[in-house]
Amino acid sequence: MTSPVQHPLIDHHLGILRDVSTPPALFRQQVHRLASLVAVSATADLPVEETEITTPLTKMSGRKLKPRIGIVPILRAGLGMVDPMQDLLPDAEVWHLGMYRDEETSQPVEYYCKLPEGRPCDVVFILDPMLATGGSVLSAIDALKRWGCQDIRILSLIASRPGTERLEREHADVKLFVAAVDPELNENDFIVPGLGDAGDRIFNTPQ
Ligand code: PRP
Repeated sequence: MTSPVQHPLIDHHLGILRDVSTPPALFRQQVHRLASLVAVSATADLPVEETEITTPLTKMSGRKLKPRIGIVPILRAGLGMVDPMQDLLPDAEVWHLGMYRDEETSQPVEYYCKLPEGRPCDVVFILDPMLATGGSVLSAIDALKRWGCQDIRILSLIASRPGTERLEREHADVKLFVAAVDPELNENDFIVPGLGDAGDRIFNTPQ
């Protein structure tokens, strides 16, 4: 069963993220902060290799990241997590997936997917602050598996328990790193207690 990443800073910043009175500028900062905190766990076992470093005083042996890494934000809300991930992984490739959730059916509708032919990244991080029914993330996983990716990791901020259970059932090989797992979805498939609509709060597009 998926457990959220535990850290006092995550608890603190999640409270501000969830608060309905948090304005868009602060909301975006909270998304950055939380994405960085969750990213520490999501990257903890990345392979490294030896490299020689020359300091102003001497030579020494250091380590550098070995895999070719992909960052895959799901538009729109995933865009809010790209900057902090690129800060931590400056050599990563960024591949975008466009998806929105149909308001009537809650099914994901793909509107942009331009992954390259062949040569899949060694490790890919799907970015989406919300995992509600899980439909959008599952569709992204399908696209990445068609590309040939084997090590797929999801970075999210709030997931629903039904969504994490569906992910575990359908893609047991994909690891989810998330700041909180909320207990339920409401009749409109919104996460409760949740934070509302992350995309609308990041981009200040109230419905
Ligand atoms: C939201 C969210 C996820 C998806 C989660 O996106 O950012 O992508 O819904 O729901 P699911 O797990 O049930 O698929 P939305 O459709 O609101 O698009 P947006 O990011 O453009 O606002």
